[in-house]
Amino acid sequence: MARFIIENSPPLKGSVKISGSKNAVLPILAASLLTEDKCVIHEVPDQSDVDTMCTLLERLGAGIHWDKNAGIISTAASGKLHAEAEYELVSKMRASFSVMGPLLARLGEVNVPLPGGCAIGARPVDLHLKGFSALGAEVVQEHGNVRARAKKLKGARVYLDFPSVGATENIMMAAVLADGVTFLENCAVEPEIVDLANFLNSAGAEIRGAGTDTIKIAGVKTLSGADHTIIPDRIEAGTYMVAAGITRGDITVTNVVADHLKPLIAKLKEVNLNVSETDAGVRVNYEEGRRIVAADVKTLPYPGFPTDMQAQFMSLLTLAEGTSIVTETVFENRFMHVGELKRMGADIKIESRSAVIEGVKRLTGAQVKATDLRAGAALVLAALTATGTTELSDIYHIDRGYCELAEKLRLLGANIRREEENGEKNN
Ligand code: EPU
Repeated sequence: MARFIIENSPPLKGSVKISGSKNAVLPILAASLLTEDKCVIHEVPDQSDVDTMCTLLERLGAGIHWDKNAGIISTAASGKLHAEAEYELVSKMRASFSVMGPLLARLGEVNVPLPGGCAIGARPVDLHLKGFSALGAEVVQEHGNVRARAKKLKGARVYLDFPSVGATENIMMAAVLADGVTFLENCAVEPEIVDLANFLNSAGAEIRGAGTDTIKIAGVKTLSGADHTIIPDRIEAGTYMVAAGITRGDITVTNVVADHLKPLIAKLKEVNLNVSETDAGVRVNYEEGRRIVAADVKTLPYPGFPTDMQAQFMSLLTLAEGTSIVTETVFENRFMHVGELKRMGADIKIESRSAVIEGVKRLTGAQVKATDLRAGAALVLAALTATGTTELSDIYHIDRGYCELAEKLRLLGANIRREEENGEKNN
């Protein structure tokens, strides 16, 4: 398996262009199943999760053309579609479950394997299923699969017990072709939800209120094709912003929506970094002589601090002066990076859903493992500032959601290289 070899690096400096958002493009690709017409999607990041989604759509019967150089995917789901998703693909990537809503709406029946738990938590799909039932589908779980059937879905009032991103997206996609009006209450308000609604509306859907806690979806008979540009990835942007802090550097992230980064910007300022909006994007820089200080962080649904930035920000806090407390409220098992950071000399104790971090003077390079996508990114950041060499294995997790991470970091001055399994260096 490929690994990163990372050496202690100088302060990272320069600007880095952020790619399209992974968590926006995945449901939007699934949503393209709702129309027979061609959809053209721009700013698609070259990541393995996008590959997985394309494979799934092809197996379901859609035509996919991905011009990786241009970052454009064209989809055409005009032929006969299959109602069954393969276990192999759904178990590989939970976002595969987002084909359920579109297939149910378009075909009137669907059979998708339950995705099961993953490294960061149990991640049930009960809220998705409650939503489909509320829209009139008969939903049955058997043999590890979920089968849903409805001649025609009917608009309804759906209240989510928790503002789940995936459930909001799945139910919204199911409701666009339903008879009548759906109100989705206590729903997620993440920017990726708004991007999906914008995509669907440009294909002829009638969705209002995306980005607020109540979304109104007036069902339409059919959707047409659409041409859509994916929003920038706020988590990729955040990762480079923390890289500026942890290496005491000066990085401008370009192609970003500063508004999406508010909770992170507030915390970067709290630890004593300078953050400013420039014409080019958002600049994060360390001011010589200022001490990076501890801060408490609690992850929450948007617009709270994103769980997807928790691990990376924790790497920064391991070197801050004082005691920080990081509380994870979204996923029950998202501290897998803690053990690995401790191997690098961090002083962290886990107490239930919180991690108590005593800042240390320095981290030391070690052999560590990426246990999931964001944990992997956190370890890369820690390794940049650690003394000596870090060998980070299982980086296929990082490939799932970061576009050319090593290349982009090298352009900022980082000492990082990729070694493929056969020992081949890949620059
Ligand atoms: N939940 C339920 N029942 C459900 C659905 C969710 O109890 O039916 C719980 C989950 O177990 C979890 C919480 O609700 O504890 C939040 O889950 P949510 O459904 O909001 O997350 P998701 O849709 O599975 C997306 C992102 C994640 C990101 C979360 C939270 C995609 C493809 N994934 O997951 O991204 O952490 O929202 O913002 O959009 C990542 O990119 O590294 C990543 C994990």
